[in-house]
Amino acid sequence: MEMINRCGVSLGASAIIDRNTGADISGAPVSKPTAVTRWGILGLGNIAKAFAQGLAHAPGARLMACASRDGAKAQAFGEQWKIPRRHPSYEALARDPQVDAVYVATPHPMHREACLLCIEHGKAVLCEKPMGISAKDEAIVIDAARKKGVLLMEALWSRFLPHVIQAKALAASGAIGEPRLLQADFGFRCGGDPASRLMDPALAGGGLLDVGIYPVSLAHLFFGKPVDARATAHLGATGVDEQAGMLLRFGGGELAVLSCAVRTNSPQEALLLGTAGSLRLHAPWWRPSRLTLSQPGKDPVVIEPPHAGNGYSHEAMEFAHCLALGLKESPLLPLSESLSVMETLDTLRDQIGLRYPME
Ligand SMILES: NC(=O)c1ccc[n+]([C@@H]2O[C@H](COP(=O)([O-])OP(=O)(O)OC[C@H]3O[C@@H](n4cnc5c(N)ncnc54)[C@H](OP(=O)(O)O)[C@@H]3O)[C@@H](O)[C@H]2O)c1
Repeated sequence: MEMINRCGVSLGASAIIDRNTGADISGAPVSKPTAVTRWGILGLGNIAKAFAQGLAHAPGARLMACASRDGAKAQAFGEQWKIPRRHPSYEALARDPQVDAVYVATPHPMHREACLLCIEHGKAVLCEKPMGISAKDEAIVIDAARKKGVLLMEALWSRFLPHVIQAKALAASGAIGEPRLLQADFGFRCGGDPASRLMDPALAGGGLLDVGIYPVSLAHLFFGKPVDARATAHLGATGVDEQAGMLLRFGGGELAVLSCAVRTNSPQEALLLGTAGSLRLHAPWWRPSRLTLSQPGKDPVVIEPPHAGNGYSHEAMEFAHCLALGLKESPLLPLSESLSVMETLDTLRDQIGLRYPME
């Protein structure tokens, strides 16, 4: 087995040479250094910390402000991450003239309101996944951003990771022939506390929206929107989906066989099978990882593109790059794509009979 590393730091474009053919098999868009982006973080829970850490590896990113519903929490978070402006309300952050971009890191059902608040005040918004709890919810946010003319992007970080971009480029280049079947999963076992975000229906808990979105989005990346989407799930004691199996069929007959779970550990691998080879996105595939390209009659090729920081830097770099260019959405994850994935999730959620109390 041959190992090929992508040379150079993550901000510099460089070729990936397939040593079997001598061909450049890169093609991944690479974020470029941009002007300074003054960031604010809205909602200071778990993912806010990971994002703050990621920003430290995003050139031009300045973590300028943070906001919590609790002023003391904002102070403590600001202290920890050396953030100069600490707001005791989300509105104060939305109004802060020293902030260009807001990262929304609240639970799913609170995304819409937080996004609308920031959009109203002219902020560019990077919103955690899923951008809403339904396509209807997301469409409201997208419409508001378009009307206001501000940049909006869903922080589905896997879509910006170098190995995922590379996998898409390889699949599109015909490296595995015609891609036909995707197998992907994302299951883990959380503590199961009924009051936790993952288990509470009032916080849109359950696997589908929290982790199922990753394999569903990966299937959209390779095959587009499915023509048929089916799911079955186990809804646990709190009423949310603890594990779900999903089967998608696409226009050309391609299939995606997917699963997700918040109470069951799964391998967290993705395997794209084509008519002339396969691509394995190694576990855990949804975070910075590596690929194995297997082609008939050739040694497998392992590709490990370098990534920046903890991986959250890539979505921040893409966002800053779009902002610097004056774009209103990212070409890597357009708003129509976020909406399309959400429509598939709506269909799947209908099938498993899961309704949230706020709907
Ligand atoms: N990209 C990823 O890898 C990744 C990983 C984990 C989660 N996420 C996404 O990030 C979002 C937040 O997840 P998390 O794990 O960070 O959640 P979390 O730890 O529970 O934090 C969410 C924060 O949202 C704020 N909030 C506002 N209204 C709330 C309410 N009614 N109940 C609870 N919190 C409320 C709170 O901040 P204040 O108290 O400061 O206002 C809270 O700390 C979710 O949408 C999730 O899908 C993404």
